[in-house]
Amino acid sequence: MDPNASGLAQRLAEADQSHLLQFWSELSPAEQAELTRELQGMDFKEINGFFKNAMETSSSSKQEKMDTRMEPVPREVLGSVTRDRECLKDWELAGLQCISQSKVAVLLLAGGQGTRLGVSYPKGMYDVGLPSHKTLFQIQAERILKLQQLAEQKHKTKCCVPWYIMTSGRTMESTKDFFSRHNYFGLEKNNVVFFQQGMLPAMDYNGKIILESKGKLSMAPDGNGGLYRALGNQGIIDDMERRGVEFIHVYCVDNILVKVADPAFVGFCVQKGADCGAKVVEKTNPTEAVGVVCKVDGRYQVVEYSEITLATAEKRSADGRLMFNAGNVANHFFSFSFLRDIVQKHEPQLQHHVAQKKIPHVDAKGQLIKPDKPNGIKMEKFVFDIFQFAKTFVVYEVLREDEFSPLKNADSQDGKDTPTTARHALMSLHHRWVLNAGGHFIDENGRRVPAIPSLKDGTDLPIKCEISPVVSYGGEGLEELVKGREFHPTLMIDENGVHELVKNGV
Ligand code: UD1
Repeated sequence: MDPNASGLAQRLAEADQSHLLQFWSELSPAEQAELTRELQGMDFKEINGFFKNAMETSSSSKQEKMDTRMEPVPREVLGSVTRDRECLKDWELAGLQCISQSKVAVLLLAGGQGTRLGVSYPKGMYDVGLPSHKTLFQIQAERILKLQQLAEQKHKTKCCVPWYIMTSGRTMESTKDFFSRHNYFGLEKNNVVFFQQGMLPAMDYNGKIILESKGKLSMAPDGNGGLYRALGNQGIIDDMERRGVEFIHVYCVDNILVKVADPAFVGFCVQKGADCGAKVVEKTNPTEAVGVVCKVDGRYQVVEYSEITLATAEKRSADGRLMFNAGNVANHFFSFSFLRDIVQKHEPQLQHHVAQKKIPHVDAKGQLIKPDKPNGIKMEKFVFDIFQFAKTFVVYEVLREDEFSPLKNADSQDGKDTPTTARHALMSLHHRWVLNAGGHFIDENGRRVPAIPSLKDGTDLPIKCEISPVVSYGGEGLEELVKGREFHPTLMIDENGVHELVKNGV
C-alpha cells in the first residue's frame, strides 16, 4: 500500500525518519510489503525517545562521574561458598525443598546473536567438543532433569522446574526446532516455554534509523534486559503465576559450568529473605570482560566492563585485592513478586545502554558500505538494571573453577573464553569430582597420574573425563561408581555406566 495513503509517510516525517522510504520506488512489491509491515509495527516516537535518553546517559562526562559514585559490595550482603562453608548444606537443603515444591523456575537468556563466537545458529546449540559431543542446551537440560530427580528422591514427591527460554526474532525458530528434534532432552515439553524478546533498530549518531539494504532496517535484539518487557507482553509472568512459581533463577546460555537452579544459591537467597540476588566470582584481572556488582549512589548495580574506566577497574583495597572484584557471572535470583513488580511498574524506567558499532548500511546511492570504524549505535537494556529496585539484595560468591567458564569467542591460540577453555574447564571439574570421590587415573604405562598434571612436557591438557549431569549434578553420588578404582582416560560416566573410551578422540 502506498505509504502516503496509509499515513506511514506522515508518521515517518513527524519522527524525522523519512529517509527510510528513500528507495521505495526501487523496491519490488514484495519488498515494499515487507518494509511496510516492519515499519507499521514500530513506534518511532518511542524509539526516538530511547535514542535521546540513551545518548544522554552514556555521555562520557556522566560515565566518569559514575566512577566516583561507585562503592564495593558491603560484607553483610555477601554469602560465600568458601567463607561460609558451615552454612552451605543448610542453604542447599532449603533450595532443594523449594524445588521439590515446584516453586523454582529457571529462565535462560538466549536471545543474543553470538557475534563474537561467529556462528550463525543459537549459541546453545554449540558443541564444544566434549567426549559426548553434548551441546550447551543439552547439558543444561540434563542438569534440570537431575535436580528434579534429586528433589523428588529427597522429598518423596513429584516436582517440576519449568524452563523459560528467551529467544529473539533471529533465534526463535531454530531454537524451538532444535529442542523438538531432540525430544526436549527428556524434559516434559509443557515445562519448556519459549518466548521472544523485542528488537530495536540501529541508529546513526544523529538519531536516524540505519538501513542495511534499500528495503530493510538494521535490527538487533534489545539486550538481555529486553526480558522484562517480553515477560509481560508474552504472558510469561501470568504463566509463572499459574504454576505457582515463587523463585526464579535467570542465567546466560554461554557458561558451560552453570549450576542451573543451583539449590545452594536459591536457598541462600530465600533464607536471607532476598527479592534479588547475584552470583559472582572474584575478579582478579582488572581488564577481564566481566561486569562488577557494586553500589552506585547507594543502590545496587552492575557496572559493565564496557562502562568502567581502567583507573577504577585497577583500584585495589588495603588487602591488595581489586576493590571492585565482585565479577558478575550473569546468574541472578529474583522472587516472583519482585519480578512481577518490575514488569508491571518499573520496566519503562530502565534506560538503554549504548554500544557503538560498525554497522553495515546503504549510502544515499543505495551502495552497501561496510564501515571500518563505528558509525552508529545499538541500544540495549541489561538484565541486571533492575537491581536498583531491590529491597533486600544479596550477593553470593562462588569459585570460578567450579562454576564459571563462559563461551564467548572462537578458538584461537591463547584465546580466552573459547570452546577449548570451556571444554577443559568442564573436564577438569569432573576430574576433580572423580578424585574427591576416591577414584584415580592411570596413564598408558599403568602409572597413577598426579592430581595436578605436570606441565614439564608442555601439556597442560586436563585429564579427559566427562560425567553426565544425569548421573551427578554437582559431584554427588559418585563414590559408589569410582571409589578405589583406577581409570584410563578418556573416562565417561553416563546413564549407561562407567566406560573408558579406548580411542582418545577429544
Ligand atoms: C554478560 C554480562 C556481564 C557478565 C558476563 C559474564 C550482561 C548485560 N552482561 O556479558 O556483566 O560479566 O556476561 O559472562 O548481562 N542476550 C539476550 N538478548 C540480547 C543480548 C544478549 O538474551 O539481546 C543473552 C545472550 O544470549 C547471553 C547473555 O544474554 O546468554 C549474555 O550476553 P552477552 O552479550 O554475551 O554478554 P556479555 O557481554 O558477555
